[in-house]
Amino acid sequence: MTAPTAAPLLELDDLRMHFPIRKGAFRRVVGHVKAVDGVSLRVEDGETLGIVGESGCGKSTLARTVLRIYQPTSGEIRYRNRSGGTVDLASLSGPALNEIHRDLRMVFQDPQSSLNPRLPVIDIIGEVLSINGIVKGQELEHRVAELMQSVGLRPEYMRRYPHAFSGGERQRIGIARALASNPRLVIADEAVSALDVSVQAQTINLLQDLQERLGLTYLFVAHDLSVVRHISDNIAVMYVGRVVEKAPTAEIFSRPLHPYTEALLSAVPIPDPRLRRRGQRIRLAGEVADPANAPSGCAFHPRCRYATDLCRQEVPQLRSVTSAGHEVACHHAEKLTLNPFANSPVPELT
Ligand SMILES: Nc1ncnc2c1ncn2[C@@H]1O[C@H](COP(=O)(O)OP(=O)(O)OP(=O)(O)O)[C@@H](O)[C@H]1O
Ligand SMILES: [Mg+2]
Repeated sequence: MTAPTAAPLLELDDLRMHFPIRKGAFRRVVGHVKAVDGVSLRVEDGETLGIVGESGCGKSTLARTVLRIYQPTSGEIRYRNRSGGTVDLASLSGPALNEIHRDLRMVFQDPQSSLNPRLPVIDIIGEVLSINGIVKGQELEHRVAELMQSVGLRPEYMRRYPHAFSGGERQRIGIARALASNPRLVIADEAVSALDVSVQAQTINLLQDLQERLGLTYLFVAHDLSVVRHISDNIAVMYVGRVVEKAPTAEIFSRPLHPYTEALLSAVPIPDPRLRRRGQRIRLAGEVADPANAPSGCAFHPRCRYATDLCRQEVPQLRSVTSAGHEVACHHAEKLTLNPFANSPVPELT
């Protein structure tokens, strides 16, 4: 495989989003929630990058920062625009940012609350088109019909309100809304998590079809690894605001290199009972560390069964360990033989 020559569609460089914690009558800043704390990632054209991690590890904040719903504390969000030039979204504002917001769109978790119940579907899907005055009247109706069809909804229902649709259909409305401006990058934040398993599968299939047809790039955020597995080319595992492992999907599942990934994988239900018998779930003690007061060294060390003094003292940097595009932030990655589906022994580490 040759390295891609063009710049990636999106490249995050040491991105940080720290929320100030204020206290007292003078609202003095007494600390920061480091929700995203130095994330560097590349996303190529047409790729689906899955982002996983337990609740509170910073996935949604990362998504929202990339979309510039938040102004990042520091770092760069390099985006290759339609003319091939690269812009740093972190430093954009005003009309330039509005224009980019047509290229980068979001599908939210809960279609129930993210769709305005007082608007008919035509206004919800067409909003981005009418606000910018791109399309009006008959043409708008035509475009909304086309979008509804492309997500498997019947265009004759465009004057109905969200409550008249099922959960899965409402998520399709959310997807059609995201597609209305012909975006290039779609960020799906737990887009299928609230749906029933069978509807989840249909929605993922739809997203995959649309990706192929429209040449879309996806950032697919979910806490459930089995959901991300089916759609992602690559997976980034987040823990307390940082990426701790990134690799092609098959590599993550067959050869996890971070103990946190190993633990996440061991919680994924395995359909094959023979495999299930051989393995044992790794129980992660405690909660995700508090991003306002992260542990020293590797933030995962208090929950890691392999942790040593080095892990308590030094923050491990994300680094390449194999030629297969596998990156990991663990001091001991080379010495560990992780296998979430077998009882891997805890080796002697120094
Ligand atoms: N606007 C905010 N102000 C202050 N803290 C915030 C804000 N948004 C998120 N946080 C904190 O940042 C951390 C990361 O939250 P985030 O919502 O990004 O996690 P997540 O990985 O998306 O979790 P989930 O799986 O539950 O959606 C949490 O500790 C959260 O409380
Ligand atoms: Mg979230």
